[in-house]
Amino acid sequence: MLYQLSYSRLGVGAGKSTQHSADTKHLGGVTFEFYWWGIRVAGEDDHTRWCYPGTGIAYEDIVQLLGRESLVVSPHSSSMKVLIFGASGATGRQLVQQALDQQYSVTAFVRNPDKLKLKHTNLRVVQGDVLEPETVEKAVPGHDAVLLALGVRKNQSGDTTLSDGTQHILECMQRYGVRRLICESSLGVGSSKNEASFVFSKIIAPLFLKHIMADKERQEALIQHSNLDWTIVRPAGLTNSKASGGYKVALSFANAKIKGRISRADVAQFMLQQLTTDAFVGRAVGISY
Ligand SMILES: NC(=O)c1ccc[n+]([C@@H]2O[C@H](COP(=O)([O-])OP(=O)(O)OC[C@H]3O[C@@H](n4cnc5c(N)ncnc54)[C@H](OP(=O)(O)O)[C@@H]3O)[C@@H](O)[C@H]2O)c1
Repeated sequence: MLYQLSYSRLGVGAGKSTQHSADTKHLGGVTFEFYWWGIRVAGEDDHTRWCYPGTGIAYEDIVQLLGRESLVVSPHSSSMKVLIFGASGATGRQLVQQALDQQYSVTAFVRNPDKLKLKHTNLRVVQGDVLEPETVEKAVPGHDAVLLALGVRKNQSGDTTLSDGTQHILECMQRYGVRRLICESSLGVGSSKNEASFVFSKIIAPLFLKHIMADKERQEALIQHSNLDWTIVRPAGLTNSKASGGYKVALSFANAKIKGRISRADVAQFMLQQLTTDAFVGRAVGISY
């Protein structure tokens, strides 16, 4: 696994900083200090290592260097406010529950509040429909990040729920300066067209999901053309098993052996992890066991 730590945050591209006032990021007891000439990686045990632009930082290298079994993403600021679209759906409910467990302040955007059988002091439920822009507009302001787990069940010609709904969300995010977006899409969309299982790509998608997949293509394109800090998460076949944490993520599964399935709980876990890292900002990433 590669932690691609962004240099743009330092303003290297913008030519901002040539001084020693580094941008600092903490991941599970490991401190990453970003300088214009490289990244200093320092552990609690005072081991340090320098990594230079263009090389990326291999996760295994850092683990070995610091003598750790694994790196744990650091706890986020619990004051972070996240807005979840599709919160009443199967992945959405996982997102809501796990976000609350992680002490986020959560707004659940739902068509029908009765479907979300959850009460919590950090949970606010907003009723709306992504196809009604005024309801989206009321929900977006004041959040730090938006998570999308929208889905449609009927494969209907001309259905643009995902793309139109996402367009409304993107416009509001831009208008109100909410920059971080993490969207659940599907393996088989965009650059992952040939990465889903044979049965899915050759039978299920063309015969039963043609219109939904076409709208997902439009949805991804809109997100990718936005200037937001987006991450698209493309799961393999979804299951309702418990979170295991033992999944693979990759920008391409073209040469990887995957099982072609992943639990919604693990997808939600990975999506929430993206709130504390910019490793996959501007990327579409596949996830599967
Ligand atoms: N099934 C798979 O194997 C698989 C594999 C990879 C990716 N995916 C994709 O992963 C995503 C999540 O799947 P899932 O099964 O967890 O989702 P899901 O249970 O179908 O939930 C979809 C959510 O979207 C909401 N929604 C739909 N139209 C809406 C609208 N106009 N306004 C507001 N909310 C709306 C639904 O609200 P209501 O509760 O009101 O209906 C529901 O909360 C989907 O995009 C799916 O295509 C699925």
